[in-house]
Amino acid sequence: MSTSVDIPLQDHTNGKFDAIETPKSVKRVVNWPIVLAVVLIISILVFIIAFITVFFAIYGGIGVYGFNTIYAANPSVEGQGCYNLNRAANNPSNYRPSYCGSVNSSIPRYFLPQSNWSYVTFQSRTIKDEGAVDPSMRIKAILMLSNPDKDPFVIAVHGIRSCKESVIDNIAMLWKNGFNVLALDLRNHGESEVSSKYPYASFGNQEHWDVLGGLDYLLANYPRLSNSSKNIGIFGESMGGSTATVTFAVDGGVNLNAAWLDAPAIYIRDTLYANIVMYGFDPNYVLSSVCSRSKIAWPYGCPPFRYDPETLLSTIKPGRHVYFVSKTNDKIVPINNSYRASEKLIKQGVNVTTWFDIDLNQPSYCGSHCDMIGFKPDQYEQRMVSFFNDHLVRLP
Ligand SMILES: *[C@@H]1O[C@H](CO)[C@@H](O)[C@H](O)[C@H]1NC(C)=O
Ligand SMILES: *[C@@H]1O[C@H](CO)[C@@H](O)[C@H](O)[C@H]1NC(C)=O
Ligand SMILES: *[C@@H]1O[C@H](CO)[C@@H](O)[C@H](O)[C@H]1NC(C)=O
Ligand SMILES: *[C@@H]1O[C@H](CO)[C@@H](O)[C@H](O)[C@H]1NC(C)=O
Ligand SMILES: *[C@@H]1O[C@H](CO)[C@@H](O)[C@H](O)[C@H]1NC(C)=O
Repeated sequence: MSTSVDIPLQDHTNGKFDAIETPKSVKRVVNWPIVLAVVLIISILVFIIAFITVFFAIYGGIGVYGFNTIYAANPSVEGQGCYNLNRAANNPSNYRPSYCGSVNSSIPRYFLPQSNWSYVTFQSRTIKDEGAVDPSMRIKAILMLSNPDKDPFVIAVHGIRSCKESVIDNIAMLWKNGFNVLALDLRNHGESEVSSKYPYASFGNQEHWDVLGGLDYLLANYPRLSNSSKNIGIFGESMGGSTATVTFAVDGGVNLNAAWLDAPAIYIRDTLYANIVMYGFDPNYVLSSVCSRSKIAWPYGCPPFRYDPETLLSTIKPGRHVYFVSKTNDKIVPINNSYRASEKLIKQGVNVTTWFDIDLNQPSYCGSHCDMIGFKPDQYEQRMVSFFNDHLVRLP
């Protein structure tokens, strides 16, 4: 019994020794598939890494290009300078038609006597730790005076890559009807200071500090304005409409009682989306790459920004007054911005008035963007003047 058990054990042991003595021949046979497999795996890895690198290079490149295309604002670049080359010939006493009015040469022009306007400069408001990322900026503005002791004031805000001179058509209408007007160049625009770190437009996120700087300037120079919340209104078009919305919300009704918003870009992401679609690109891909660039390029946000018109809408108190002007076929800032914002504000009890032009057959000036003034100048003047007259105080 014991020997019969030993034999299989010895066989087993011998077999083991045999296997150990033969590895050289086995290695040579098995080697090639392994080498091939390793080469294949390395090739696939190299390909994947190359693909990912190229993918992110393109993604990053589109992010940088898209970010700069959307936000970069440099007034020393002609075309972004807004009358840079010929600014002296574009002042309230002698101005060319503005961007959107230019197509209608019969739009009424109100040239101010030299004595009724001047250039003024002031610093933007800075409150530490409340989101003013840049230092206080030097802001230049046009101040139009009718009667500063009695007449109400309106602060006017231009659009992206534009300047104070581009809204002279609009604000000269106000001045002619007995309003004092302060029209400022936002930072990184016109003749105001350009940030060395962040030479961009941020749809009111930073720019509202410039408008508040203008408000501070008026309160300091015309102390009677502090006596009532009904002495000052605000006008903004396009990105100036975003900025005016942020300013109006942040003010909380302390000094600003009425806001006239002409094609305001309040829903910034949706507005960018529509523009990217218009240029034939994939909006989700482009916006996602621009957002990843935003995280590196500036501390403001994606959007939403820290001070964002869409977000801040909900803080506008009942009983304040907002007027929306927008064209149905606006290709740059879709009218839905004004539809949605006005619906939201009405629900909140804000006194909203709207002027939405619904005639799709009308001639289109500058992408139907902010061109109501060129198309219906008489109505524009009448509506804007009566809006501010209704909600601002004029002393006898
Ligand atoms: C222009 O300024 C003068 C002097 O301040 C003032 O008397 C006059 O009313 C102003 N004109 C208009 C049209 O506002
Ligand atoms: C407004 O207030 C100032 C003091 O802040 C006062 O001197 C001035 O008389 C007031 N003006 C009016 C019109 O109430
Ligand atoms: C436009 O706004 C309305 C709300 O006013 C909304 O229901 C609709 O989906 C919006 N359309 C687009 C294309 O964004
Ligand atoms: C141009 O402006 C005038 C008012 O000055 C207006 O009557 C006319 O309809 C406008 N023309 C066009 C084509 O919009
Ligand atoms: C709302 O604004 C309109 C237009 O400016 C004005 O006619 C109306 O009286 C205002 N309503 C309230 C309740 O203030």
